[in-house]
Amino acid sequence: MKIANFSTLFSILFIVPVTFAQLRVGFYNNSCPTAETIVQTIVRNLVTDEFESDPTITAALLRMHFHDCFVGGCDGSILLNSTDSERFVGPNLSVRGFELIDEIKTELEAQCPSNVSCADIMALATRDSVSLAGGPNYNIPTGRRDGLTTNANGVFDLIGPTASVAAFLSFFGERMLNTFDAVALLGAHTVGVGSCDLFEDRLTNFNGTGLPDPSMDSNLVANLTSICAASENPSTGLDRSTPLTFDNAFFGQIRASRGVLQLDQRLATDEATSSVVAQYAADNDLFKRQFAIAMVKMGAVGVLTGENGDIRTNCWAFNDKFWVVCDVFDLLF
Ligand code: HEM
Ligand SMILES: *[C@@H]1O[C@H](CO)[C@@H](O)[C@H](O)[C@H]1NC(C)=O
Ligand SMILES: *[C@@H]1O[C@H](CO)[C@@H](O)[C@H](O)[C@H]1NC(C)=O
Ligand SMILES: *[C@@H]1O[C@H](CO)[C@@H](O)[C@H](O)[C@H]1NC(C)=O
Ligand SMILES: *[C@@H]1O[C@H](CO)[C@@H](O)[C@H](O)[C@H]1NC(C)=O
Ligand SMILES: *[C@@H]1O[C@H](CO)[C@@H](O)[C@H](O)[C@H]1NC(C)=O
Ligand SMILES: *[C@@H]1O[C@H](CO)[C@@H](O)[C@H](O)[C@H]1NC(C)=O
Repeated sequence: MKIANFSTLFSILFIVPVTFAQLRVGFYNNSCPTAETIVQTIVRNLVTDEFESDPTITAALLRMHFHDCFVGGCDGSILLNSTDSERFVGPNLSVRGFELIDEIKTELEAQCPSNVSCADIMALATRDSVSLAGGPNYNIPTGRRDGLTTNANGVFDLIGPTASVAAFLSFFGERMLNTFDAVALLGAHTVGVGSCDLFEDRLTNFNGTGLPDPSMDSNLVANLTSICAASENPSTGLDRSTPLTFDNAFFGQIRASRGVLQLDQRLATDEATSSVVAQYAADNDLFKRQFAIAMVKMGAVGVLTGENGDIRTNCWAFNDKFWVVCDVFDLLF
């Protein structure tokens, strides 16, 4: 324990309010200049590994980052693996993403201990994986801090794949994401898979009619029916043309009645979103630009910055409370 010195008091009184709630591009320029390169290298090695390449990591990270941001803000709390954490409630997220974040964190702790947050690692790794899959490459402001709480029940506030477009737009609107952002973000379904149990009713008994969903192309009904019958826990690409490539093909697919999830399909026909879908389908660069803008906005939802939250040393566990208590004593005495 030590007496609070002038610089501590100065930072309490002045620096904290001035820098409050600011994410900045290059936040780690001084404190950890190699941070972004380290993240990028580890993500690239996984995607391009000659023997164990995992291109599906883009989908895993995108979904994880989205869920983190929409449940209690982008604070890395989805990474916590205590049994009562967000991670184990509701939709199960892929383990692959968690392992990659842990690997990056281990390297960053070796290079710049206690400086780079798990929330930032997730945002950066997601950005890099999108770019490697053919998507946009964009600057992402950093300076997020990790959350000190987890809200497992918040997971149930996420809307599901049968939601209406109106519910979808208001869910995103509540987080300051407009229609252009929301539609671009759902375009993340250009990569990754969905489990059959989330859309099987569309194949056989849509809305209690005993018939397939009339808004689904009949060839797709046949295709998905045979895929879903073929294995235990089957899943299949949400973008029927290029499920490993980050491009605008998803929008062309939903315009051709080939959306797998009901909400995805509805975007193409609902009057609130159909013209935006048409624009993204016609212009890949426009989609990619707007996706980048929307990801930066989504990555700022409910963030902790400045002196809020902390920097976890393990992404899967809160820091030891003992040290938090000591920090408080440092300030008091
Ligand atoms: C409220 C809007 C959304 C709904 C209802 C929704 C729904 C779903 C559903 C039902 C799945 C399949 C999950 C499974 O089979 O377990 C899925 C997968 C996925 N979602 Fe979304 N999603 C939404 C928004 C987003 C956003 C904003 C992103 C990212 C920016 C995203 C990225 C993904 C990705 C990449 C996958 C594939 C995951 C994988 O292959 O591992 N979703 N989504
Ligand atoms: C970090 O460096 C980059 C590139 O020189 C610059 O664009 C950015 O503004 C810097 N950020 C900060 C917070 O210093
Ligand atoms: C959490 O993850 C870490 C790292 O993978 C592991 O060592 C630990 O046993 C896990 N804890 C729980 C409760 O699952
Ligand atoms: C999946 O979620 C259930 C609760 O819905 C949980 O019991 C189970 O441990 C989770 N599995 C994994 C691998 O996270
Ligand atoms: C960040 O790195 C600096 C220099 O290595 C170190 O003094 C500091 O304790 C680290 N942690 C934080 C939160 O700044
Ligand atoms: C589902 O059925 C109900 C009542 O039969 C009807 O009011 C509703 O519009 C139907 N929904 C769709 C999406 O077809
Ligand atoms: C389903 O369609 C995809 C292309 O969209 C094709 O690669 C696959 O072989 C089809 N599967 C079945 C079982 O028809």
